[in-house]
Amino acid sequence: MKAIEIRNKYLNYFKKHQHSIIPSAPLIPENDPSVLFNTAGMQPLVPYLLGEKHPQGTRLTDYQKCVRTNDIDEVGDNRHLTFFEMLGNWSLGDYFKEESIKMSFEFLTKELQIPVEKLSVSCFAGDEDCQKDEETAKYWKEVGIPEERIYYFGKDNNWWIAGTEGPCGPDTEMFYDTGKPKCSENCDPSCECGKYVEIWNNVFMEFYKDNKGQYTKLSQKNVDTGLGLERMTMLLQGKETPFDTELFSAVMEKLETLQKVDNISSRRIVAEHLRSSMMIIADGGRPSNIDRGYVLRRLIRRMIRHLNKLQISLDELEGLIKLNIEILKEMYPELEQNRETIKNVIIEEKDKFAKTLEHGEKEFTKEMNKLKASGKTKLDGKVVFKLYDTFGFPPEITEELATENGMKIDKEEFEKSFKEHQEKSRVGAELKFKGGLASTGEMETKYHTATHLLNAALKQVLGSHVHQRGSNITEERMRFDFSHPTKMTDEEKQKTEDLVNKWIAAAIPVEHMEMKKEDAIKQGAEAMFIEKYGDIVSVYKIGDKSLELCGGPHVSNTSELGHFKIKKEESSSSGIRRIKAILEN
Ligand code: ALA
Repeated sequence: MKAIEIRNKYLNYFKKHQHSIIPSAPLIPENDPSVLFNTAGMQPLVPYLLGEKHPQGTRLTDYQKCVRTNDIDEVGDNRHLTFFEMLGNWSLGDYFKEESIKMSFEFLTKELQIPVEKLSVSCFAGDEDCQKDEETAKYWKEVGIPEERIYYFGKDNNWWIAGTEGPCGPDTEMFYDTGKPKCSENCDPSCECGKYVEIWNNVFMEFYKDNKGQYTKLSQKNVDTGLGLERMTMLLQGKETPFDTELFSAVMEKLETLQKVDNISSRRIVAEHLRSSMMIIADGGRPSNIDRGYVLRRLIRRMIRHLNKLQISLDELEGLIKLNIEILKEMYPELEQNRETIKNVIIEEKDKFAKTLEHGEKEFTKEMNKLKASGKTKLDGKVVFKLYDTFGFPPEITEELATENGMKIDKEEFEKSFKEHQEKSRVGAELKFKGGLASTGEMETKYHTATHLLNAALKQVLGSHVHQRGSNITEERMRFDFSHPTKMTDEEKQKTEDLVNKWIAAAIPVEHMEMKKEDAIKQGAEAMFIEKYGDIVSVYKIGDKSLELCGGPHVSNTSELGHFKIKKEESSSSGIRRIKAILEN
């Protein structure tokens, strides 16, 4: 069965069971700076898992394009991918464990015709936060999974949350037995040896984990499931890796005919990163030095380096892009629709990089020889910085090259050189900042600072899911849009107002700083549209209350603001609330 047939079977099956088919959200989350890419089908659905009504009902199904970058360095082995497709079905306060398990079992054994003997499952073993999930195990037994193939694991395996905070719960996972021998006596589905392959995860989302690590019950019980399409395709076709399926095989074969040096890992890296970067570009991503743009840049540059390793001319890239569009356009028509852009962006990035790559690699080899001669094993951070600054080598590429030579790089010293460099560009940035200040009136400046306090207060009162989604300031008032699923109660509004006024009364100094974007994010700085900022960012800090990326201008002390008053709280759009507020003398 081809991947697209599995996808269609899935959507049709759940449609038959009263699920509405919703479209895949773009890879790049709309207006959400907290994640770089969608990493799971549930991500665009968070407001609905938290209780907001979905316009298409309480049963949904879709395929979701996902990018996960934490495993980027593993790509090249037989299973890791940065881009993948997740098939999912959701119950938003509708069915729960029993029906979810019945449908999964029926889909696997009847629709996909996987023999029951091939299936094992795991359930949550229980701990102080949530009891052992014997209910789920009972339903598995009822549908026909024998007790000896039902396993219990702890939070490491059978608990799912996107990141560290948000809706979550125990899950039950389904595994396909490849028939390989057990790697040891203790080999079970939690083992990574490859005998058992996880194929589907059903999360019973009834908890919310807050930023302090506390669990509370959600207002409704949800089901969130995810089935990895590439993996399922590989298993059903009896293939060893996703690269052997129709999703990659034509590009893999083409690379084999073009290569002058044989290297399967490099071929996989090229094929995978090509597909991944094409999908990101089709959804609006562009290479840059920060965030998503930087991920895309890394993917393209790494792909180019491995084309070089295979000794394939970079002129072949255009043909490879074309070939990939042909293979994938039925599944992802957006590739065809963005054909020209995809080609132009990749070729432009290639031209930029290819010029320096050759020099950079020469420089690297020189440095590597020096290092070897000196008997040391760690490449100087200053050299890593020079390769970055002069030759456009992302430190990760230098690290990869070093690893290939059995060496390490000095990351700490690289960071230090980076900071020194950043200090030099600070003066220029400050001049620009002063220019902005001159054109803004006194009241607007005050309101501007008030939005930062309001943003921080809302987070304390409503929770850290609150993020700014927009603002509009005049001399008379401020308007502030933010993410929050429900109407604020009078008490919440009062608390928010009181908190802002308390901070005004506390006369907190407002500090302006410039720092490396990455550091700002690490320190938890708020930013509305992360992609809009350069790699050295302007940050405003209001005591320990607020830290936000912002160009300013701001007052220098909160005491200048006067009295803060919320005039109105209303809906702005789905999942977004709007506050109108004023500052009084
Ligand atoms: N959200 C769950 C996962 O990604 C289904 O595994």
